[in-house]
Amino acid sequence: MFTFISLLSLLPAALSAPIFGLGPSTSDDSATGTPTPVSLATVNSTLLRPAQFSRVAYCSSASITSWSCGAPCDALKNITFLQSGGDEGLIPLYYIAHDADEQTLVVAHEGTDPFKFFSLLNDAELALTPLNSSRFPEAANTDIQVHDGFQETFERTADGLLAGVKAGLASTGVTKVAVTGHSLGAALASMTGAMIKDAVDPSIDVSVVTFGLPRGGNEAWANFLDSKLGLTFVTNQHDPIPIVPPKALGFQHSSGEIHIVDDTQQNLVACPGQDNVNCATGNSVIDFDIINHLGPYFDDVTFGSQECAGVLL
Ligand SMILES: *[C@@H]1O[C@H](CO)[C@@H](O)[C@H](O)[C@H]1NC(C)=O
Ligand SMILES: *[C@@H]1O[C@H](CO)[C@@H](O)[C@H](O)[C@H]1NC(C)=O
Ligand SMILES: *[C@@H]1O[C@H](CO)[C@@H](O)[C@H](O)[C@H]1NC(C)=O
Repeated sequence: MFTFISLLSLLPAALSAPIFGLGPSTSDDSATGTPTPVSLATVNSTLLRPAQFSRVAYCSSASITSWSCGAPCDALKNITFLQSGGDEGLIPLYYIAHDADEQTLVVAHEGTDPFKFFSLLNDAELALTPLNSSRFPEAANTDIQVHDGFQETFERTADGLLAGVKAGLASTGVTKVAVTGHSLGAALASMTGAMIKDAVDPSIDVSVVTFGLPRGGNEAWANFLDSKLGLTFVTNQHDPIPIVPPKALGFQHSSGEIHIVDDTQQNLVACPGQDNVNCATGNSVIDFDIINHLGPYFDDVTFGSQECAGVLL
Protein backbone atom coordinates (compact mmCIF):
# COMPACT_ATOMS: atom_id res chain seq x y z
CA MET A 1 0.00 0.00 0.00
CA PHE A 2 1.30 3.41 -0.89
CA THR A 3 0.67 6.70 0.70
CA PHE A 4 -1.52 8.02 -2.00
CA ILE A 5 -1.05 11.42 -3.48
CA SER A 6 -3.41 12.69 -6.08
CA LEU A 7 -1.05 13.98 -8.69
CA LEU A 8 -4.13 14.60 -10.77
CA SER A 9 -4.51 17.80 -8.84
CA LEU A 10 -1.01 18.85 -9.81
CA LEU A 11 -1.21 18.19 -13.51
CA PRO A 12 -4.25 18.62 -15.73
CA ALA A 13 -3.49 15.27 -17.20
CA ALA A 14 -5.56 12.41 -18.54
CA LEU A 15 -4.63 8.94 -17.36
CA SER A 16 -5.44 7.42 -20.70
CA ALA A 17 -2.33 8.84 -22.30
CA PRO A 18 -0.44 6.54 -24.63
CA ILE A 19 2.95 5.26 -23.60
CA PHE A 20 5.45 6.49 -26.11
CA GLY A 21 9.07 7.41 -26.49
CA LEU A 22 10.26 4.50 -24.40
CA GLY A 23 12.47 2.86 -26.99
CA PRO A 24 16.21 2.90 -26.44
CA SER A 25 17.41 6.40 -27.13
CA THR A 26 20.19 6.82 -29.61
CA SER A 27 19.89 10.55 -30.16
CA ASP A 28 23.04 12.67 -30.35
CA ASP A 29 22.86 13.96 -26.79
CA SER A 30 22.82 10.50 -25.18
CA ALA A 31 26.15 9.43 -23.74
CA THR A 32 27.63 6.13 -24.93
CA GLY A 33 30.66 5.74 -22.64
CA THR A 34 31.38 2.39 -21.02
CA PRO A 35 30.04 2.10 -17.44
CA THR A 36 32.52 1.19 -14.71
CA PRO A 37 31.88 -1.11 -11.74
CA VAL A 38 30.99 0.43 -8.36
CA SER A 39 32.39 -1.44 -5.37
CA LEU A 40 30.14 -2.62 -2.58
CA ALA A 41 32.27 -0.63 -0.16
CA THR A 42 31.33 2.52 -2.11
CA VAL A 43 27.69 1.46 -2.16
CA ASN A 44 27.81 1.04 1.61
CA SER A 45 29.55 4.32 2.30
CA THR A 46 27.73 6.60 -0.16
CA LEU A 47 24.37 5.12 -1.22
CA LEU A 48 23.01 2.93 1.55
CA ARG A 49 22.36 5.62 4.16
CA PRO A 50 20.51 7.96 1.74
CA ALA A 51 18.37 4.98 0.68
CA GLN A 52 17.54 4.24 4.32
CA PHE A 53 16.54 7.87 4.92
CA SER A 54 14.40 7.89 1.76
CA ARG A 55 12.68 4.71 2.97
CA VAL A 56 11.75 6.42 6.25
CA ALA A 57 10.03 9.22 4.28
CA TYR A 58 7.24 6.78 3.30
CA CYS A 59 6.21 6.32 6.94
CA SER A 60 3.61 8.38 8.81
CA SER A 61 4.58 11.84 9.91
CA ALA A 62 3.84 11.01 13.57
CA SER A 63 6.09 7.94 13.53
CA ILE A 64 8.92 9.92 11.91
CA THR A 65 8.59 12.72 14.45
CA SER A 66 9.15 10.22 17.27
CA TRP A 67 11.59 8.18 15.13
CA SER A 68 9.54 5.07 15.84
CA CYS A 69 8.50 3.98 12.34
CA GLY A 70 9.67 0.40 12.76
CA ALA A 71 12.44 -1.23 10.72
CA PRO A 72 13.13 1.82 8.50
CA CYS A 73 13.78 4.02 11.57
CA ASP A 74 15.57 1.27 13.52
CA ALA A 75 18.14 0.95 10.72
CA LEU A 76 19.32 4.50 11.47
CA LYS A 77 20.75 5.23 14.93
CA ASN A 78 21.40 8.54 16.67
CA ILE A 79 18.91 10.51 14.61
CA THR A 80 17.20 13.61 15.95
CA PHE A 81 14.04 14.65 14.14
CA LEU A 82 13.91 18.40 13.54
CA GLN A 83 11.03 19.29 11.22
CA SER A 84 8.55 17.89 8.72
CA GLY A 85 6.22 19.43 6.19
CA GLY A 86 3.64 18.46 3.62
CA ASP A 87 0.30 16.99 4.56
CA GLU A 88 0.52 13.31 3.52
CA GLY A 89 -2.17 14.22 1.01
CA LEU A 90 -1.78 16.63 -1.85
CA ILE A 91 1.54 17.91 -0.59
CA PRO A 92 4.10 15.12 -0.25
CA LEU A 93 5.79 14.78 3.12
CA TYR A 94 9.40 15.79 3.72
CA TYR A 95 11.40 15.73 6.92
CA ILE A 96 14.62 17.24 8.22
CA ALA A 97 16.73 15.34 10.77
CA HIS A 98 20.16 15.52 12.39
CA ASP A 99 22.32 12.47 11.78
CA ALA A 100 24.80 12.63 14.66
CA ASP A 101 26.94 9.73 13.45
CA GLU A 102 27.59 11.40 10.10
CA GLN A 103 27.45 14.97 11.44
CA THR A 104 24.96 15.73 8.69
CA LEU A 105 21.63 17.45 8.29
CA VAL A 106 19.37 15.12 6.29
CA VAL A 107 16.46 16.25 4.11
CA ALA A 108 14.28 13.45 2.70
CA HIS A 109 11.26 13.67 0.39
CA GLU A 110 8.48 11.08 0.14
CA GLY A 111 7.54 9.59 -3.22
CA THR A 112 4.19 8.52 -4.63
CA ASP A 113 2.26 5.66 -6.19
CA PRO A 114 4.48 4.42 -9.03
CA PHE A 115 1.70 3.18 -11.30
CA LYS A 116 -0.16 6.49 -11.37
CA PHE A 117 3.13 8.33 -11.54
CA PHE A 118 4.22 6.38 -14.61
CA SER A 119 0.97 7.18 -16.40
CA LEU A 120 1.25 10.87 -15.62
CA LEU A 121 4.85 11.09 -16.75
CA ASN A 122 3.84 9.61 -20.08
CA ASP A 123 1.24 12.24 -20.72
CA ALA A 124 1.95 14.34 -23.77
CA GLU A 125 0.18 17.29 -22.17
CA LEU A 126 2.81 17.68 -19.51
CA ALA A 127 4.95 20.71 -20.01
CA LEU A 128 8.38 22.08 -19.46
CA THR A 129 8.24 25.43 -17.72
CA PRO A 130 10.98 27.96 -16.93
CA LEU A 131 12.83 27.37 -13.66
CA ASN A 132 11.65 29.97 -11.11
CA SER A 133 14.27 32.70 -11.46
CA SER A 134 13.08 34.40 -8.31
CA ARG A 135 14.25 31.36 -6.36
CA PHE A 136 17.13 30.48 -8.68
CA PRO A 137 18.58 33.81 -9.87
CA GLU A 138 21.04 32.06 -12.23
CA ALA A 139 18.06 30.85 -14.22
CA ALA A 140 17.15 34.37 -15.35
CA ASN A 141 17.71 34.84 -19.07
CA THR A 142 18.56 31.18 -19.59
CA ASP A 143 16.59 28.40 -21.23
CA ILE A 144 16.55 26.24 -18.09
CA GLN A 145 13.19 24.47 -17.96
CA VAL A 146 11.77 21.92 -15.55
CA HIS A 147 8.69 19.70 -15.34
CA ASP A 148 5.82 22.02 -14.36
CA GLY A 149 4.22 19.51 -11.95
CA PHE A 150 7.51 18.89 -10.16
CA GLN A 151 8.20 22.59 -9.74
CA GLU A 152 4.66 23.30 -8.56
CA THR A 153 4.89 20.50 -6.00
CA PHE A 154 8.38 21.61 -4.93
CA GLU A 155 7.21 25.20 -4.40
CA ARG A 156 4.45 24.11 -2.02
CA THR A 157 6.99 23.26 0.70
CA ALA A 158 10.16 25.05 -0.48
CA ASP A 159 10.04 28.11 1.80
CA GLY A 160 9.34 26.17 5.00
CA LEU A 161 11.89 23.52 4.09
CA LEU A 162 14.62 26.08 3.44
CA ALA A 163 13.89 27.91 6.70
CA GLY A 164 14.12 24.54 8.50
CA VAL A 165 17.47 23.73 6.90
CA LYS A 166 18.91 27.12 7.87
CA ALA A 167 17.64 26.70 11.44
CA GLY A 168 18.97 23.13 11.57
CA LEU A 169 22.42 24.16 10.38
CA ALA A 170 22.48 26.89 13.02
CA SER A 171 21.29 24.68 15.89
CA THR A 172 23.43 21.62 15.13
CA GLY A 173 26.55 23.31 13.79
CA VAL A 174 27.05 20.64 11.11
CA THR A 175 28.53 21.62 7.75
CA LYS A 176 27.00 18.91 5.56
CA VAL A 177 23.49 18.63 4.12
CA ALA A 178 22.41 15.34 2.53
CA VAL A 179 19.26 15.51 0.39
CA THR A 180 17.51 12.36 -0.76
CA GLY A 181 14.27 10.89 -2.07
CA HIS A 182 12.73 8.15 -4.18
CA SER A 183 10.44 8.50 -7.23
CA LEU A 184 8.58 11.84 -7.13
CA GLY A 185 10.66 12.43 -3.99
CA ALA A 186 13.80 12.05 -6.12
CA ALA A 187 12.64 14.77 -8.52
CA LEU A 188 11.82 17.05 -5.59
CA ALA A 189 15.20 16.29 -3.97
CA SER A 190 17.03 17.51 -7.08
CA MET A 191 15.27 20.88 -6.88
CA THR A 192 15.65 21.04 -3.09
CA GLY A 193 19.38 20.37 -3.32
CA ALA A 194 19.85 23.15 -5.87
CA MET A 195 17.80 25.54 -3.73
CA ILE A 196 19.79 24.78 -0.57
CA LYS A 197 23.10 25.09 -2.41
CA ASP A 198 22.04 28.56 -3.60
CA ALA A 199 20.87 29.69 -0.18
CA VAL A 200 23.50 28.51 2.30
CA ASP A 201 27.12 29.48 2.87
CA PRO A 202 29.40 28.06 0.14
CA SER A 203 31.40 26.23 2.81
CA ILE A 204 28.40 23.94 3.45
CA ASP A 205 28.70 20.65 1.56
CA VAL A 206 25.36 19.87 -0.12
CA SER A 207 24.99 16.39 -1.61
CA VAL A 208 22.01 14.82 -3.37
CA VAL A 209 21.56 11.05 -3.77
CA THR A 210 18.27 9.81 -5.20
CA PHE A 211 16.55 6.58 -6.27
CA GLY A 212 14.22 5.95 -9.22
CA LEU A 213 14.56 9.52 -10.53
CA PRO A 214 12.38 10.52 -13.50
CA ARG A 215 13.73 13.10 -15.97
CA GLY A 216 13.05 16.45 -14.32
CA GLY A 217 13.81 19.03 -16.98
CA ASN A 218 15.56 19.89 -20.22
CA GLU A 219 19.23 19.67 -21.17
CA ALA A 220 19.94 23.14 -19.72
CA TRP A 221 18.49 21.93 -16.38
CA ALA A 222 20.65 18.79 -16.59
CA ASN A 223 23.73 20.95 -17.21
CA PHE A 224 22.71 23.26 -14.34
CA LEU A 225 22.51 20.28 -11.95
CA ASP A 226 25.87 18.99 -13.19
CA SER A 227 27.63 22.28 -12.55
CA LYS A 228 25.87 23.09 -9.28
CA LEU A 229 25.47 19.81 -7.45
CA GLY A 230 26.96 16.75 -9.03
CA LEU A 231 23.79 14.75 -8.39
CA THR A 232 24.00 10.98 -7.80
CA PHE A 233 20.94 9.00 -8.88
CA VAL A 234 20.48 5.26 -8.63
CA THR A 235 18.42 3.44 -11.26
CA ASN A 236 17.33 -0.17 -10.72
CA GLN A 237 17.44 -2.61 -13.65
CA HIS A 238 14.36 -2.13 -15.86
CA ASP A 239 12.53 0.51 -13.84
CA PRO A 240 10.63 2.61 -16.43
CA ILE A 241 10.34 5.78 -14.29
CA PRO A 242 13.91 6.94 -15.07
CA ILE A 243 13.11 6.88 -18.81
CA VAL A 244 10.10 9.20 -18.54
CA PRO A 245 9.21 11.87 -19.48
CA PRO A 246 10.76 10.90 -22.81
CA LYS A 247 13.72 12.59 -24.40
CA ALA A 248 11.49 13.11 -27.44
CA LEU A 249 9.67 15.79 -25.43
CA GLY A 250 12.90 17.59 -24.60
CA PHE A 251 13.68 16.02 -21.24
CA GLN A 252 17.22 15.05 -20.30
CA HIS A 253 18.93 13.49 -17.28
CA SER A 254 21.97 15.04 -15.66
CA SER A 255 25.15 13.03 -15.20
CA GLY A 256 25.66 10.95 -12.07
CA GLU A 257 23.66 7.81 -12.78
CA ILE A 258 24.54 4.62 -10.91
CA HIS A 259 22.75 1.66 -12.42
CA ILE A 260 21.87 -1.63 -10.70
CA VAL A 261 22.50 -4.26 -13.36
CA ASP A 262 20.82 -7.36 -11.93
CA ASP A 263 18.89 -8.61 -8.93
CA THR A 264 21.91 -9.89 -6.99
CA GLN A 265 22.29 -6.41 -5.43
CA GLN A 266 26.03 -6.89 -6.05
CA ASN A 267 26.49 -5.51 -9.56
CA LEU A 268 26.32 -1.75 -9.86
CA VAL A 269 27.93 0.48 -12.47
CA ALA A 270 28.65 4.18 -12.74
CA CYS A 271 27.36 5.53 -16.06
CA PRO A 272 29.40 8.34 -17.61
CA GLY A 273 27.67 11.34 -19.18
CA GLN A 274 24.01 12.29 -19.47
CA ASP A 275 21.39 9.67 -20.41
CA ASN A 276 23.96 6.95 -21.06
CA VAL A 277 22.47 4.37 -23.45
CA ASN A 278 24.26 1.57 -21.57
CA CYS A 279 22.23 2.27 -18.42
CA ALA A 280 18.56 3.11 -17.71
CA THR A 281 18.17 5.16 -20.89
CA GLY A 282 18.84 2.00 -22.90
CA ASN A 283 15.75 0.32 -21.47
CA SER A 284 12.83 -0.11 -23.83
CA VAL A 285 9.09 -0.50 -23.72
CA ILE A 286 9.36 -4.26 -24.16
CA ASP A 287 11.54 -5.01 -21.15
CA PHE A 288 10.43 -2.64 -18.42
CA ASP A 289 9.33 -3.77 -14.98
CA ILE A 290 7.75 -1.22 -12.68
CA ILE A 291 8.39 -3.44 -9.66
CA ASN A 292 12.07 -2.59 -10.16
CA HIS A 293 11.09 0.98 -9.24
CA LEU A 294 10.34 -0.15 -5.68
CA GLY A 295 13.42 -2.31 -5.22
CA PRO A 296 15.06 -4.04 -3.65
CA TYR A 297 17.99 -1.71 -4.27
CA PHE A 298 20.91 -2.82 -2.09
CA ASP A 299 20.93 -4.32 1.36
CA ASP A 300 17.29 -5.19 0.60
CA VAL A 301 16.07 -1.59 0.80
CA THR A 302 12.60 -1.44 -0.77
CA PHE A 303 10.49 1.72 -0.89
CA GLY A 304 6.89 2.13 0.19
CA SER A 305 4.78 2.47 3.31
CA GLN A 306 4.50 -1.34 3.63
CA GLU A 307 7.97 -1.21 5.19
CA CYS A 308 6.73 0.97 8.08
CA ALA A 309 5.52 -0.10 11.51
CA GLY A 310 1.76 -0.28 11.96
CA VAL A 311 0.86 -0.34 8.27
CA LEU A 312 -1.79 -2.93 7.35
CA LEU A 313 -1.16 -4.54 3.99
C1 LIG B 1 28.10 -3.52 3.31
O1 LIG B 1 27.27 -3.42 4.46
C2 LIG B 1 26.64 -4.64 4.83
C3 LIG B 1 25.73 -4.37 6.01
O2 LIG B 1 24.88 -3.32 5.77
C4 LIG B 1 27.68 -5.68 5.16
O3 LIG B 1 27.04 -6.89 5.43
C5 LIG B 1 28.62 -5.83 3.99
O4 LIG B 1 29.68 -6.69 4.40
C6 LIG B 1 29.20 -4.50 3.57
N1 LIG B 1 30.01 -4.73 2.37
C7 LIG B 1 31.15 -4.10 2.15
C8 LIG B 1 31.88 -4.47 0.91
O5 LIG B 1 31.61 -3.24 2.90
C1 LIG C 1 25.23 6.81 18.86
O1 LIG C 1 24.51 5.97 19.74
C2 LIG C 1 25.30 5.00 20.42
C3 LIG C 1 24.39 4.15 21.26
O2 LIG C 1 23.29 3.72 20.52
C4 LIG C 1 26.36 5.71 21.25
O3 LIG C 1 27.22 4.74 21.83
C5 LIG C 1 27.16 6.65 20.38
O4 LIG C 1 28.05 7.41 21.17
C6 LIG C 1 26.26 7.60 19.64
N1 LIG C 1 27.04 8.43 18.73
C7 LIG C 1 26.86 9.74 18.65
C8 LIG C 1 27.72 10.45 17.65
O5 LIG C 1 26.02 10.33 19.31
C1 LIG D 1 9.20 31.52 -7.10
O1 LIG D 1 10.02 31.61 -5.96
C2 LIG D 1 9.60 32.52 -4.97
C3 LIG D 1 10.62 32.50 -3.86
O2 LIG D 1 11.85 32.99 -4.34
C4 LIG D 1 8.23 32.13 -4.48
O3 LIG D 1 7.78 33.07 -3.51
C5 LIG D 1 7.26 32.08 -5.63
O4 LIG D 1 6.01 31.60 -5.19
C6 LIG D 1 7.79 31.16 -6.71
N1 LIG D 1 6.93 31.24 -7.89
C7 LIG D 1 6.22 30.23 -8.35
C8 LIG D 1 5.42 30.49 -9.58
O5 LIG D 1 6.23 29.14 -7.84
